[in-house]
Amino acid sequence: MTIVYRSNAGTTRRYAELLGEQTGCDVLELAKAKDTVADDVVYLGWIMADEIQGLAEAKACFDLAAVAGVGMMDDETNIAKVREKAALDTAEFFFLPGDFHIENVTGMLKLAMGVVRKAMRAEVKKSGDPEAAKTLERIENGVDKFDETALAPLTAFIKARQSGD
Ligand SMILES: Cc1cc2nc3c(=O)[nH]c(=O)nc-3n(C[C@H](O)[C@H](O)[C@H](O)COP(=O)(O)O)c2cc1C
Repeated sequence: MTIVYRSNAGTTRRYAELLGEQTGCDVLELAKAKDTVADDVVYLGWIMADEIQGLAEAKACFDLAAVAGVGMMDDETNIAKVREKAALDTAEFFFLPGDFHIENVTGMLKLAMGVVRKAMRAEVKKSGDPEAAKTLERIENGVDKFDETALAPLTAFIKARQSGD
């Protein structure tokens, strides 16, 4: 089993590397893994607009045993949206809470985040929607949600596969 990941600001990479240390699996970035990995893959991708980035490519290239999305919106409703959009067939789904700091967002993504931020501000002003308010608060003030212990279910899944369960 190989761990393949796509990260933007580094949180997903940290999770992937930690998972590699805990399980002994090789860890590769998606672009590097595409032509080289032949065995089962556990794929980790950062979440943008409820979508696990790189997942379509990973689905096309590998046999996926499990998929984990890394995002800052860690409530059940948002996690359910990510799971639904991921539309996994047989692969297990996991969610990992991620860090977010607007100062680490650059280029086109910074532009996209600016649009989301503006829309959230308007929504909060108009309806006072608590979900929109929470998202806006996270966008503006950032969050540190990386949590080593959140990896436990995924680590256990990989170890069970390794021992042939
Ligand atoms: C443009 C943009 C859109 C995002 N959209 C979501 C989202 O829909 N849901 C979520 O949980 N997190 C969202 N995030 C937060 C990231 O998924 C989070 O910061 C994650 O830790 C990024 O992983 P990375 O550090 O590996 O890049 C978004 C971040 C950016 C920059």
